[in-house]
Amino acid sequence: MQVIKSIEKMAAFSKKAITQNKVLGFVPTMGYLHEGHLSLVKKAKKECDLVIISIFVNPAQFGPKEDLAAYPRDFRRDLKLLGPLKPDVVFKPDPSAVYPGDYHTYVQIEGGLTKKLCGSFRPAHFKGVTTIVAKLFNIVRPDKAYFGQKDAQQCVVIKKMVKDLNFPVEVIALPTVREKDGLALSSRNTYLTPEERKKAPVLYKTLRLAEKMILTGERNCAKVEQAMKKNLALVKGLEIQYAVVVDAGSLERKKIVSGNVLLALAVKLGATRLIDNIIMEL
Ligand code: PAJ
Repeated sequence: MQVIKSIEKMAAFSKKAITQNKVLGFVPTMGYLHEGHLSLVKKAKKECDLVIISIFVNPAQFGPKEDLAAYPRDFRRDLKLLGPLKPDVVFKPDPSAVYPGDYHTYVQIEGGLTKKLCGSFRPAHFKGVTTIVAKLFNIVRPDKAYFGQKDAQQCVVIKKMVKDLNFPVEVIALPTVREKDGLALSSRNTYLTPEERKKAPVLYKTLRLAEKMILTGERNCAKVEQAMKKNLALVKGLEIQYAVVVDAGSLERKKIVSGNVLLALAVKLGATRLIDNIIMEL
């Protein structure tokens, strides 16, 4: 496992690998790794000749009042966790090289996709995500890139960007890794106080409740959404941002449950924003 910090060296590594017909797997992350990230690396190892992980806390995807400065970072810990998985490269570029002073180019999806769900609470977030992922794709030039279904909207957005801009990469979305009590692993879980941590499994419990309603025949989206909100409202100190049933492809709200649906929610528990979702194929 080699650590590459220079963009030029990363690009040169990939260029050489491509001339050798290697299949390149790529896992972009913001570090402070957990089993969710590692599940992506493990899958990439199975499917690719060479695996590259990037660790970069991307300032462009944080809003002015968000947690960029507080976002957890521990590179030594990340390397320790990655070691046993034997990836080929850990790419950790410097923010000043990624976004030099004269940086002015952004990749942005027009239309509703990035304005819905998380986008309505984090207006510039997906512009930052598409910009950094496009840049990383251009530097790393992967054949396959691995993302977590935990960030369902991010998966939809990246797939759309890849299709619209003809990036020669296959985007692979993998299932959410959870704690035993159902809480989706997230680097941001470290922000939770012990009391908030006890309350946090309500997200997944609420999604499972909604899923059960649908599995037992409920088809009225409003009723499912109502039940999700009611369940979340039982928790003191929890603020609901959204709790919705949407089309898993377009992220449009639905009236009647049909096709592939995404049950998605976002809440604030104290100061911490948590998201989770379940996809159902009906
Ligand atoms: P980050 O939050 O570090 O997540 C990196 C990848 O790990 C994403 O694809 C995310 O969906 C996935 N992931 C996070 N928690 C997971 C879990 N519990 N189970 C499975 N996968 C999980 O997402 C980002 O970074 C950034 O937006 C990035 C794509 C790197 C662009 O900056």
